[in-house]
Amino acid sequence: MKISLLTASGIRNLAPVELAPRERFSVFVGQNGQGKTNLLEAIYVVATLRSFRTSRLADLIAFEQPQAQLGARVEREGLTRIYEVALSPGSRKVMLDGKPMRPIARYFGGFNVVVFTPEDLALPRGSPSDRRRFLDRAVFNQGPEYLGAIQDYEKVLKQRNTVLKQAAQGLVASRVSALLEVYDLQLAQLGSVVASSRARFVHTIQPALEDAFQAIGRSPHRAGVRYVSKTAGLTVEEILAHLHETHARDIATESTQSGPHRDDLAFDLDGRDAGDFASQGQLRAIMLAWKTAELAILAKTHGELPILLLDDVSSELDPSRNEFLFEHLANKAGQCFITTTAGSHVLLSRDRADYRIENGQISS
Ligand SMILES: Nc1ncnc2c1ncn2[C@@H]1O[C@H](COP(=O)(O)OP(=O)(O)OP(=O)(O)O)[C@@H](O)[C@H]1O
Ligand SMILES: [Mg+2]
Repeated sequence: MKISLLTASGIRNLAPVELAPRERFSVFVGQNGQGKTNLLEAIYVVATLRSFRTSRLADLIAFEQPQAQLGARVEREGLTRIYEVALSPGSRKVMLDGKPMRPIARYFGGFNVVVFTPEDLALPRGSPSDRRRFLDRAVFNQGPEYLGAIQDYEKVLKQRNTVLKQAAQGLVASRVSALLEVYDLQLAQLGSVVASSRARFVHTIQPALEDAFQAIGRSPHRAGVRYVSKTAGLTVEEILAHLHETHARDIATESTQSGPHRDDLAFDLDGRDAGDFASQGQLRAIMLAWKTAELAILAKTHGELPILLLDDVSSELDPSRNEFLFEHLANKAGQCFITTTAGSHVLLSRDRADYRIENGQISS
């Protein structure tokens, strides 16, 4: 699949964009703070209706502007579709082929975008919540129906936590247990879907990640990844029983202590936790292996290569790993949008167009 036309206006510091990208590699070269990540974020948002940088889409609206508009013409299997998003504070309008999309789930599925940023390289030493978000993005790409499950889970979790707070503040016990009974069941059902979807994805990516890590080379070690969860593998009844047992503790702490919102993704090197034992370079190689594996899995699932957004990753990789990355992209990737501070970091010689990006203005 590929984007044949990208439009954006009122997005962060970007001057209005109307861009017909290359079939394979479009490289955006610019100094810090010029709008490189903003451009990739715009593409990511029109594809997924979420940002990889913020949970508030309204942040994308340029300062002092009332609204922002994004559009992408996407070619896939001989079919052309137009994806459009209009953002204003507190509202998001979504159109597919000129028609408002409801339910929103119908917007997804034909436009798969994978993003790879320098922050991803630091993930093994980052926070568990960053790793959960990272994993959730990958699971969503694999099957967009996951979005509904995770959003519903988070909603019910919030409602349950509100009840726990009210209980701690003296809400009548019978009322508390009646409310918890309702929320426990919903949370157990949704939690089971979330945890098993994540576990399944990690199970699928594990061998591909191990192979990719070997291919990146320069290492006699084996890399792995695990989904660390107390919920995955349990039945809904078992999760429900566990939620029941922990009512007193949950009320005392005014929050739900266990469930997929506390799970984690752990990277290993030779069976030991990579976050604790691997070197900086090895950690980056593991993350590079993850992204390589993710692209391969998505291509298999959707029968087509996803679009890759590569945000200035080269400056964080040593020369040989950077070489691996671009050789891999040249052989195995589809359309890629690549940002860099120096065009020479991008080791691609064919099918490539370079653009300059300066103060939000893109020029060729
Ligand atoms: N809502 C907004 N409206 C206008 N400008 C914004 C908005 N949000 C961010 N910016 C501006 O966008 C610029 C940063 O753009 P961006 O993050 O894309 O830079 P970059 O080229 O990726 O830089 P780096 O190489 O440091 O990552 C900053 O100057 C910031 O002030
Ligand atoms: Mg940036």
